[in-house]
Amino acid sequence: MPKPKLPSILLLFLCAALVSAGPAAAQDISVGEYASLTGSEATFGINSDNGVELAADEINNSGGLLGGRKVKVVVEDDQSKPGQPSAAVKKLINSDKVIAVIGEIASSRSLEAAPICQEAKVPMLSPGSTNPTVTEKGDYIFRVCFIDPFQGTVMAKFALDTLHAKKVAVLSDVTSDYSKGLSQFFTEYYKKNGGQIVIERSYSGSGKDKDFRAQLTAIKAAQPDAIFVPGYYTEAGLIGKQARILGLKVPLLGGDGWDSPKLAEIAGNSLDGCYFSTHFSAADTAPKVQDFVKKYQAKYKTMPDGMAPLGYDAMMILADAIKQAGTTDGGKVRDILAKVKDYDAVTGKITIDANRNATKSAVVLRVDGKDNKFVASVAP
Ligand code: PHE
Repeated sequence: MPKPKLPSILLLFLCAALVSAGPAAAQDISVGEYASLTGSEATFGINSDNGVELAADEINNSGGLLGGRKVKVVVEDDQSKPGQPSAAVKKLINSDKVIAVIGEIASSRSLEAAPICQEAKVPMLSPGSTNPTVTEKGDYIFRVCFIDPFQGTVMAKFALDTLHAKKVAVLSDVTSDYSKGLSQFFTEYYKKNGGQIVIERSYSGSGKDKDFRAQLTAIKAAQPDAIFVPGYYTEAGLIGKQARILGLKVPLLGGDGWDSPKLAEIAGNSLDGCYFSTHFSAADTAPKVQDFVKKYQAKYKTMPDGMAPLGYDAMMILADAIKQAGTTDGGKVRDILAKVKDYDAVTGKITIDANRNATKSAVVLRVDGKDNKFVASVAP
């Protein structure tokens, strides 16, 4: 009897040591995230990641998932560059063994990585990619935001009904699926409802083009009532500045690609009084929004833009799906994501439709110095 006592105690210690070191970490639920933390759209990645991390903290502080397992977010920076999203997602799936992937914001980057997630049967949830083709990549690809056929209509309607702009110029980014799609959907609705597109010009985004004076000179000659610029903030800021230098006084209009604290930094006051559509207004008095703004400010000492709550909502909806599935199995989590209905998110009530897109409201904001003023909320 006394003889086996010592070895069994040793064995017990060994087990305890193993449980507290290696296997405890293996119990974490690894969620991948690929985002533009650097490069021409860095605020998209940084701020959506802030939202994801805030949500993960909350989940972990309130006991984790599936009986106390912590969510571990593994983030890869895709540098706002083509080629990087696929490399990032392959690494997340193959080396980090993530059970799902959150990303990207920019539609072109989501389109690049989605087929890899689909092939591996790892659910992908985009916080902000609005081009309709993203979720067409397969039944494992979801988003928590509205899509551009809706967003384009919102801004075309706004141009016609609120600004009474009868003639619009369009200046879009040929390197961006988002920009090409949004200008198409805007144009379709605008023309059908009596508007005239007087000129269309383009540029190369992702920080490539910095001089837009040739396009803006041609646009000025066409005498539009407004200019639709469905690009990202880096270029939109420069376009605003150069438009005013060339004496173009009409309002510029944009989509969610303008939603960045950097916009006003780049544009100075040149875009004041201009309008863009997006997913969220920090001025919304809904308790869910104000609660988020408070938590976000406490953690990051700054106001959230539209990206931050989209990242937060994506992480929360994914966590909820894992909880409901009772497992991290990709197929089972996918099935729950496909059935999300009336989820009360910071960016509005989210219902995932048959095409794995979210149907929800958009907001229109007016640029006013560093602040964006709430103008309208538009239901689908
Ligand atoms: N909707 C943009 C795209 O598809 C990305 C974006 C989302 C930008 C939300 C800002 C805010 O490329």
